[in-house]
Amino acid sequence: MSKNIETHLQENRVFKPAKEFSKKARISSMKQYEELYEESIKKPRTFWAREAKELAWRKKWTSVLDWKPPYAKWFVGGKLNVTESCLDRHLETHRANKAAIIWEGEPGEIRTLTFRQLHREVCRFANVLLNNGVKPKDRVLIYMPMVPEAAIAMLACARIGAIHSVVFGGFSADSIADRLEDCGAKLVITADGGYRRGKIVPLKASVDEALDKYEGQVETVIVYQRTGEDVAMKRGRDKFWKEEMAKADKTHEPKAFDSEHPLFILYTSGSTGKPKGILHTSGGYLLGAYSTCKYIFDMRDEDVYWCTADVGWITGHTYIVYGPLANGVTQVMYEGAPNHPDFGRFWEMVERHRVSIFYTAPTAIRAFIKAGDHFPEQHDLSSLRLLGTVGEPINPEAWMWYHLKIGGGRCPIVDTWWQTETGAIMISPLPGATPTRPGTATRPFFGVDAAILDEEGNECGPNEGGKLVIRKPWPSMTRTIWGDKRRFRKTYWSDYEGLYTAGDGAFRGPRGNFWIVGRLDDVLNVSGHRLGTAEVESALVEHQTVAEAAVVGRPHEIKGQGVIAFVTLKEGVLPNAELNQELRNHVAQIIGAIARPDEIHFAPALPKTRSGKIMRRLLKELVTKGEVSGNVTTLEDLGVIEHLQESLANAKSQ
Ligand code: WT7
Repeated sequence: MSKNIETHLQENRVFKPAKEFSKKARISSMKQYEELYEESIKKPRTFWAREAKELAWRKKWTSVLDWKPPYAKWFVGGKLNVTESCLDRHLETHRANKAAIIWEGEPGEIRTLTFRQLHREVCRFANVLLNNGVKPKDRVLIYMPMVPEAAIAMLACARIGAIHSVVFGGFSADSIADRLEDCGAKLVITADGGYRRGKIVPLKASVDEALDKYEGQVETVIVYQRTGEDVAMKRGRDKFWKEEMAKADKTHEPKAFDSEHPLFILYTSGSTGKPKGILHTSGGYLLGAYSTCKYIFDMRDEDVYWCTADVGWITGHTYIVYGPLANGVTQVMYEGAPNHPDFGRFWEMVERHRVSIFYTAPTAIRAFIKAGDHFPEQHDLSSLRLLGTVGEPINPEAWMWYHLKIGGGRCPIVDTWWQTETGAIMISPLPGATPTRPGTATRPFFGVDAAILDEEGNECGPNEGGKLVIRKPWPSMTRTIWGDKRRFRKTYWSDYEGLYTAGDGAFRGPRGNFWIVGRLDDVLNVSGHRLGTAEVESALVEHQTVAEAAVVGRPHEIKGQGVIAFVTLKEGVLPNAELNQELRNHVAQIIGAIARPDEIHFAPALPKTRSGKIMRRLLKELVTKGEVSGNVTTLEDLGVIEHLQESLANAKSQ
C-alpha cells in the first residue's frame, strides 16, 4: 500500500469548481458543505428528517432512527410506497409529460417514455404480478437486458411490496440457479435476449438451464420479447410479457408499506464462498438514492442525465432506477456496448440527446483513451456540465483525459466511492463546492462518518494507510445479508465494535481528503465489478481435471485487475493448451464472462506452508513483480516458485 500512497502524494493538481457552476449549485462553497456536514453528523435525526420530507410519505414516522448495532431502522413507523416518489407524484406537476427515459437499443432504435407512460406501464405490470399470485415480500428474480422493461419490472415489484433480485444479464445459468436457491424466488422475469456487440445474448435459454438445475419451485416465468427470436416456452409456466400486459388492468392504487419493508436483494461477491444477498429496505434506501442525486449530481429539471451502468449492478439500481426517477430528471438508457458500432457510440449519444450529466466507470474511460481521441473529437459535447466516475480508484491519467477530452476542461468530476452495501454514494466531491484532485473521492457525503483506522482501532494520521470504516448508521445502509445474519456481523461489523468495515484500504491526505487504495480482502475489482477469488477457485475445482486452484489479481491496463489462476491437475491429467482454454471457458460458463481468467498456469504443486496453507502472498508477488521477495522460509517446496516463475515468463513472451 505504501507505494500507492507515494504515487498519490505526488499528485498536486487542484481543480476548483467554476464560479458559474457554483453559483447555481445546491451547495456552492466548502463552508456551506462543512456546516451542513457538521449538522448531519451531530444531529443526524434533524438533518435526515428534513431531507426525508422531500419524499412522498403516506404516514409520517414516529422516530427517525432506531440504532442497535449492527441493525438500523430508519423512519420507524413511517409508511410509503417507493414508486409514488418515483412516479405518481410527478404526474401532478409539469413533469407528467416530460421524458423519464430516453432509451437507445444497440441496433439504433430510440424509444421515449414520459413519466406518465412509465407510470402506466408500471401500474399494468404490477397488476400482471398480482394476477400471477405475487404477494408482498415474495422474491422475484429479474434477468433482463438493458431495456426500459427492466426498470418497469423492478418498479412493479416495489409497487406491490415484492422483493426484486436483479441478476446481471452477463451472469451464467449457474449464477442464476445459485441466486434462486438462496432467495427462493417463485417468479422470474426475463427476455428472449438482448443485443450486445452486434450479437444476441440468449437470456431465456440461460433461465431455462438454471431452472433445470434449481430444485425449488418457480411457478411463473414472464418473457419480454426484445429480439423476437424464437424461444422455448414451457406450457403453464412461461408467459409472454405482451400477452400478460394485455390481460391486466391499467390502473393500480399503490398500497403503503412500512419504511423498513424490504425493497430488494442484490448479490455481490465476498472474500469467501458464494455471493451474498445484500438486503436494502424502502424509506432509508430511497432517501439515500434521492439526496445523493440531488446534491452530488446536482440534478435539476432541465438536466439530461446518463448513467452507463447496467441495472444488474447497484449503480443501476440507485442511479438509473430509484434516484433519478425520484428526482424527476430525464435520463438516457442504453442497451449495448460502448464500442458498438465503434468507440464513438457514447459521444454520439451525448450529442444526440444533449446529455448534461454523465456517470461512467474508470475502466470505460481507459478503453476510450486507448481507442483514440478522434472518437470524442468528432462530436459536440458542449451540453455536458458534470461528470462522474464509480467502481474503482481512478488513475490520474484517466481523470485528466476525462476532464479535458470529455469535459472540455469545464465540467467538475465527481469521483464517487460507495458499495453495494452502502446503497448510495458515501464519499464524493460536491460539484459546486469541493476542490477536486485526480485520484481522490475527497470528502464524505452528509451523514457519513467515515474514518481510517489502524489495526488497534486508532484513527490514522495524515498519509497513513489503514482500514476505511463508517462510524455511524446512514439511511441507505444494507440491513442484513439475506438469510445469513452471522455472515453479516462477521463480514462488516467484527473488526471494530459497532463500526462498519468497508473492506477497502485508504488514507487521508493532509487536507482531509480520502484516497481509496483498493480492497484489503480477497476480492478483485475487474472492470469495476467485484469478483471473489474464492468463487473463481471453486469454479475451477468443479472441473473434473482440476485438483487445486489459487486465484490472484494482476494489474490490467484497461480492466483495473485481471484474473490469474494457478492450477494443479489431478493424477494422470496432462497440461496442454486445449485444456488451458477449456478451463478458462469453464469459469466463464460457471460464473459469467467477467470471471474468465486472463491466464491459467499449470503447476505440479502450489506454494504452501508446511501446514498446507496456500501462500497467496507469494502468488501475488509473482504475478505483480515476477519474483518473490521477503520471507519464504515457511514455504514447503522452493522448486514450486521457480516453476511458476518460468510459466509466467513464458506467458509474457507469447
Ligand atoms: C467496491 C464496491 C458502488 C458501485 C460500484 C461498485 C470499489 C467503488 C470506488 C471509487 C475507489 C471504488 C471499492 C468498493 N470502488 N467506487 N470511487 N474509488 N474504489 O460496487 O461492486 O459493491 O464494489 O468498489 O473497492 O469496496 P461494488
